[in-house]
Amino acid sequence: ARGSAAPQDLAGLEVVVSAGGTREYLDPVRFLGNRSSGLQGYALARAAASRGARVTLVSANVSLPDPAGVAVVRVETTEQLREAVVAATATADAVVMAAAPADFRPTSVSTAKIKKASDGSAPAIELVQNPDVLAEISHERAREGAVIVGFAAETGDDSGTVLELGRAKLARKGCDLLVVNDVSGGAVFGSADNEAVVLGADGAVVEVPHGSKSALAHVIWDEVVRRVVR
Ligand code: CTP
Ligand code: CA
Repeated sequence: ARGSAAPQDLAGLEVVVSAGGTREYLDPVRFLGNRSSGLQGYALARAAASRGARVTLVSANVSLPDPAGVAVVRVETTEQLREAVVAATATADAVVMAAAPADFRPTSVSTAKIKKASDGSAPAIELVQNPDVLAEISHERAREGAVIVGFAAETGDDSGTVLELGRAKLARKGCDLLVVNDVSGGAVFGSADNEAVVLGADGAVVEVPHGSKSALAHVIWDEVVRRVVR
């Protein structure tokens, strides 16, 4: 870890990081969720703070201690995450969307706890798409010169390799950098380590060797610093 020896190259910058996984409620006690641990987002927040940035961490359902010197905003749903990220993005120099917002939410949330039917039948759950926060902030560009970073966990399939899918997603989202994880092995969630390729809208391809989430976080901030317009 760079610790107190970290260069203060993010001093004067305001950055926003989202972390964790959203919950989409079915009723007051049940939700659809995902396996995001928040570890990568928290590593990004800690790394940015150690390099002198003013950090807002939008945290969705994470059980990790608050990083020192970071403003933490807690959210549960994708809609809440969207509100918090959009609000913080207005003045931000960089935004890193490390969170895993749910792609879908139940069409309606029951105000009362859903009960079992006596005939043994099960309810069908109808879903609608959630707003795409990364695409929204990338296309709106609240502050010119800000650097917007997305993450993508890909497995590769008939339609393309992990990198091809990453390139297409970067273009679709409209962000400046996309951190692509190959999750074919299924080993990233909750793991201390990570291995990734950082793709730039400017054509950059930065391969990050297998290492800690903190090491990947520092590489991401290196790429942000290189591009941000102060
Ligand atoms: N993301 C977002 N809002 C959503 C879904 C995703 O801001 N509703 C962000 C994630 O935080 C991540 C990036 O978009 O930084 C890519 O997420 P991913 O799930 O890979 O993208 P999707 O467009 O949802 O594509 P897919 O169909 O592959 O899940
Ligand atoms: Ca998704």
